[in-house]
Amino acid sequence: MKLVFSTGNLNKANEIKSMLPEDTELLTLKDLDLEDDIPETAPTLEGNAKLKAKYVVEHYNIDCFADDTGLEVYCLNNEPGVISARYAGEQKSSEDNIKLLLSRLIEKNDRRARFRTVIALHLDGNLHTFEGIVEGKIIHEKRGEKGFGYDPIFVPDGYDITFAEMSLNEKNMISHRAKAFAKMIEFLNAL
Ligand code: IMP
Repeated sequence: MKLVFSTGNLNKANEIKSMLPEDTELLTLKDLDLEDDIPETAPTLEGNAKLKAKYVVEHYNIDCFADDTGLEVYCLNNEPGVISARYAGEQKSSEDNIKLLLSRLIEKNDRRARFRTVIALHLDGNLHTFEGIVEGKIIHEKRGEKGFGYDPIFVPDGYDITFAEMSLNEKNMISHRAKAFAKMIEFLNAL
């Protein structure tokens, strides 16, 4: 089976390659010579994941999946959510995003949040979606050097260290993305 992962992020692609059924040939946007990101203009994570997968199916006629992730902070009506990457502006700076989020949480007691990943899979003319969630809380200042994005301020439930203080392996065991991908892999393996 030939499957495109609609992403320009080769780390994400390598992570999932080894988990796919053996007869799956995984391509990325780079293999299709699509260097620019597909615009993520939908108002929801589901919408963006579908949009990125659909683009490839329509233009290249190859089955495809795409993921979209957001950090949802409960007391901020699930902000930053779908705009997590560009919360503080189009420069897409994690540093700026974290500063803005911490400033919005000053004096808030309820700091519960979750990361949510949605995967849209177009396969043989059908659309399937898979969701992965990790619950946790936002701490008051950054801790840890690993990871990316909001990792230094997110402590998952059941832990007292941030995602940025965990090894990549440890994070991958419990992360939102890992859970969503595991669901899709289970589905593909059962075909
Ligand atoms: P994407 O949909 O995977 O590109 O994620 C969108 C944005 O959400 C990223 O630019 C990050 O700011 C944030 N994000 C996604 N996944 C993670 C994660 O595992 N840790 C921290 N931030 C993340």
